Amino acid sequence: MIDISMQYLGMKLSGPIVVASTPLSESIDNVRHMEDAGASAIVLTSLFEEQLALESRTLDDDLSRGTDSFAESLGFLPDLNDYRMTHEIYLEHLRRASEAVSIPVMASLNGATPGGWVRFAREMEQAGADAIELNTYALATDGAQTSASLETQLLDLVTSVCQAVKVPVAVKLSQSFTSVPNLAARLQEAGASGVVLFNRFYQPDFDIESLEVRPTLHFSTPSELLPRLHWAAILYGQLHIDIGITGGVHSAEDVLKSIMSGGSVAMMVSALHIHGIDHIARVLADLCYWLEKREYASLAETRGCLSRHSVPDTSPYDRGNYIKTLSSYSLRQTVAAF
Ligand SMILES: Cc1cc2nc3c(=O)[nH]c(=O)nc-3n(C[C@H](O)[C@H](O)[C@H](O)COP(=O)(O)O)c2cc1C
Repeated sequence: MIDISMQYLGMKLSGPIVVASTPLSESIDNVRHMEDAGASAIVLTSLFEEQLALESRTLDDDLSRGTDSFAESLGFLPDLNDYRMTHEIYLEHLRRASEAVSIPVMASLNGATPGGWVRFAREMEQAGADAIELNTYALATDGAQTSASLETQLLDLVTSVCQAVKVPVAVKLSQSFTSVPNLAARLQEAGASGVVLFNRFYQPDFDIESLEVRPTLHFSTPSELLPRLHWAAILYGQLHIDIGITGGVHSAEDVLKSIMSGGSVAMMVSALHIHGIDHIARVLADLCYWLEKREYASLAETRGCLSRHSVPDTSPYDRGNYIKTLSSYSLRQTVAAF
C-alpha cells in the first residue's frame, strides 16, 4: 500500500484529503462517516464573530437587568436564530466530535476584527480542538479604508489568536490581496502555522424584476482550483508554514495538482455535498492507483514538484504567461478566420 500520509500543521495525517468547514460535520454520524471514508482530518463548521458579539451583548444586557440566565436570554433574540449554533452548543459538538473519531478535528473561528471574541479560541482548544482554522473574511466597502489598514487588522487578529492558544492556527485567506507572498510571510511571523487558500467569494446576485440583491450559494467546480494552485505554487519554498488548498477539489487529479503545487492537504466540501461522503474513498483509491502506476513511493515526494520554486521555467507563474496566453489565443483566432 502506497504511503499517502502528509504533514499538516505539525500533525502527521493519514492522507491528503481534509474535510473543509461544512454543515455536513454538524452531525456526529457524518463525522464518523468521514473518517471511515478516509478523511485525514475535519474542520468543523465556523463559529462567527458576529454570533459571539451578539451573545456577549446579550449577556451584558442580562447582567445589567439583574438576571442571571444567559441561556434563557438567548431565546429572546430572534436574530440569533439565523445562526446555526451558540458557542456553548459549538463547544459541546466539538467535544463530541473529537471523542467520536481518532483523526484530528479542527475548530473554525470566523471573523474579521481583533477583539474580546478571540478568547473563544482558547475555549475551543480546551474542548479538544487539535488545531484552529481562523477564517478572516473581510470586505472593504469604504474608500477611506486602505489595504494596509485591513492587513494590519488581519495580522493583529492572527497574533491575538496565536497568543491565546498552544494548538496550531491556520489562516483561511481571501484571494483579494495585492501581495499574497508578503502577507503570508507576515502571517508566518505573527505565529500562524499554515495558510488555507482560499475562501470562496460568495457574491450576491441581482434580481432585476424585484430589484433585490440576494445571497447565492452554489457549489464549486474544478476550474476554481486554478488560482489556488497558482498561489500555492508561488508560496511553496518561500515559507516554513504549511499550505492547505480549498476550493475546486473534486477528483484525485485535483488532489494531485494541489500537492504538486506545494499544498500539504487538499480540502473538500462541494464534492461531498454533490456525491456524498463516500466520494472521499473513491478519490483516494484513484489517487493510490495513479501513484502506483507511475511507481511513486509516496505522495509526499510529489509535493511542490510543479511549484515555482521547482520548475526550470518560472514564466508560467509570471507576467510572461499572461502575455503568452492572450497572444497565442488571438493567433489561433486569426488562423481560424482564414
Ligand atoms: C454549505 C457550505 C457551508 C460552508 N460553511 C463554511 C463555514 O462555516 N466556514 C468556513 O470557513 N467555510 C465554509 N464553507 C466553505 C468551505 O469550507 C470551502 O472552503 C469552500 O466550499 C470551497 O471548497 P469546495 O470547492 O470543496 O466546496 C462552506 C461551504 C459550503 C458549501
